[in-house]
Amino acid sequence: MINIAIDGPAGAGKSTIAKAVASAMGIIYLDTGAMYRATAYAALKKGIDVSDENAVAPMLDELEMDIVYENGIQQIFVNGENVTPFLRAPHMSKAASDISALPCVRYKMVELQRKFAANRDVVLDGRDIGTFVLPEANCKFFMTASAEERAKRRYKELVEKGERCDYDTVLSDIVKRDYNDSHRAVAPLKQADDAYYLDTTAMSIDEVVAAVKRVVKEKIK
Ligand code: DC
Repeated sequence: MINIAIDGPAGAGKSTIAKAVASAMGIIYLDTGAMYRATAYAALKKGIDVSDENAVAPMLDELEMDIVYENGIQQIFVNGENVTPFLRAPHMSKAASDISALPCVRYKMVELQRKFAANRDVVLDGRDIGTFVLPEANCKFFMTASAEERAKRRYKELVEKGERCDYDTVLSDIVKRDYNDSHRAVAPLKQADDAYYLDTTAMSIDEVVAAVKRVVKEKIK
């Protein structure tokens, strides 16, 4: 069984690398950040404050989340609605970070993620995969890059999508989200002791993919 856990801060390139590695190895990739984004989307749609645990908890009891793959691309359905197209809007990042700090949300998502990963070869990326969701994963990575480099990449991505934004705002959002994600009480972002550390600041995508594949090969030998 291959369980690959890729954790790290926002914009470190985890999902790009996780997708490429999963496709090269012919295994499934689960983007766990999208699950927190989908939960935040469901709350915002109902006018629920994403930081209010008393309001979010009852919503979770009725929240049905299904993850399916269409042409190999992950789609998330919440109560029957495909919410995937709405998850990457800039305001969803902050909402996802806020809702992900609530223990009731984390426990529900972690349970779904563990079920998803049970008995199959998978790559999961997120913040707490190697430390909390799959502590027994056989290949763990902690992927990061300088905040400036991550902001540069995010800014370029947004501009290419035709979104209006400015670099300084993108950078300050990233710094705030790093703080939020690494200072929450339950399962904060941190490197697992047995994770392979990768600073991608000066690396190309191909170089990172090659490094990950090399470590995985070594670990599962
Ligand atoms: O990876 P992302 O930017 O799509 O994640 C959105 C937010 O979800 C992130 O700010 C923190 C949260 N998250 C988390 O707490 N744990 C995970 N395993 C994945 C994401």
